[in-house]
Amino acid sequence: MHNHPLISKARDDFPILKREINGCPLAYLDNAATTQKPKSVIDAIVSFYENHNCNVSRGVYTLAEEATEIYEAGREAAANFIGADDSGSIIFTRGTTESINLVASAWGRKNFKAGDRIILTEMEHHSNIVPWQLIAQTSSIELVYWPISPEGRLDLSELEELLTDSVKLLAFTAVSNVLGSINPVGEITKIAHSRGVPVLVDAAQAVSRMPIDVAGWNCDFLAFSGHKVYGPTGIGVLYAKKERLEGMAPFQGGGGMIRQVERQSSTWAEAPQKFEAGTPPVAEVAGLKAALEYIEQYGIQEIQRHEQELTVHSLKILSEFPDLEIYGPKDIHNRTGVVSFNLNNIHAHDVAQVLDERGIAVRAGHHCTQVLHERLGVPATVRMSFGLYNDTSEIDSLFKALDRAREIFLY
Ligand SMILES: Cc1ncc(COP(=O)(O)O)c(C=O)c1O
Repeated sequence: MHNHPLISKARDDFPILKREINGCPLAYLDNAATTQKPKSVIDAIVSFYENHNCNVSRGVYTLAEEATEIYEAGREAAANFIGADDSGSIIFTRGTTESINLVASAWGRKNFKAGDRIILTEMEHHSNIVPWQLIAQTSSIELVYWPISPEGRLDLSELEELLTDSVKLLAFTAVSNVLGSINPVGEITKIAHSRGVPVLVDAAQAVSRMPIDVAGWNCDFLAFSGHKVYGPTGIGVLYAKKERLEGMAPFQGGGGMIRQVERQSSTWAEAPQKFEAGTPPVAEVAGLKAALEYIEQYGIQEIQRHEQELTVHSLKILSEFPDLEIYGPKDIHNRTGVVSFNLNNIHAHDVAQVLDERGIAVRAGHHCTQVLHERLGVPATVRMSFGLYNDTSEIDSLFKALDRAREIFLY
């Protein structure tokens, strides 16, 4: 099997991949949980603290100006990376979860009323379910689930039926973190908009796996996390259309988000600062910018092609074993980068533990998608998820190690 030469070279960029686990080379196949960090990202964070550390927007001295420049350059980089026309549409958060909570609280509080509905899909991560449940419980709103097909796809004609007059938002993931399904964001958004329904896209998994195009997709909100795109933890992005931001209440109160504070009340700064209360994560933004530049060096399309090759390779091997159950779309054009399975009669956690003995890191469990697992009729799955540094030999080692699991637990 061919491994893209540039991408194979990428392994050297990641210090952690030189580690051994239990005497074996690390095969890191849990990229849907978090990606590893290239040296350039680590260096950008260290360089910020060694050379530029300062709070932003609060000083007129050189360091303060440098820190502010670094922070705002990160906003520009994030906007460019997702195809946003205006960096004023980029709000920095702690991650996808906080971005979605921000919309649920700051936009939801102003726009939902009792009797309204929110459409979610059955493949959502808990962070695109629970924030809506919290607001639904206080505002008497109903959550409606767009069902998935048995192989984990969404049927667009069913959406038309779900879009009744009481629907005020459609929130869905661009790529499933369990099934790997790619949802047609542009088409879905068009259908929702034709009924006047705004759309929030959870791009946590998509952002490292395919080009993101908020302007082309025309989505109203989009969320992603830095740590899933080879950047640091503690930094996330919320993209919001300018007109949506205008109709939003503040999310949190504090320094940086005000225009004027009086004893009993305050007025607010313009967006995006209005939604960034307190000292922002400047070093993390420096790291995120380095991560986006790192991806651009290889090209997101190349990374997508490489991950699809790895997905095809895994699905082919999986289909050769009758004791392996595979989840997600059969057609490779509808999925990317994530492959979940079960080995008959062996619990997913036991499988993952045996793999760890060989230095292979995979995730086992419900992957924060209990609604989806209930739909699949299993409590847990084993998930391998790829990054640009993985190669087919790691996948082959995983399948070889499954024999060991069979030996221990079945024979
Ligand atoms: C599809 C999806 N949405 C949201 C999240 C939450 O991301 P974070 O924990 O970085 O906020 C994840 C994380 O696994 C995810 O896979």
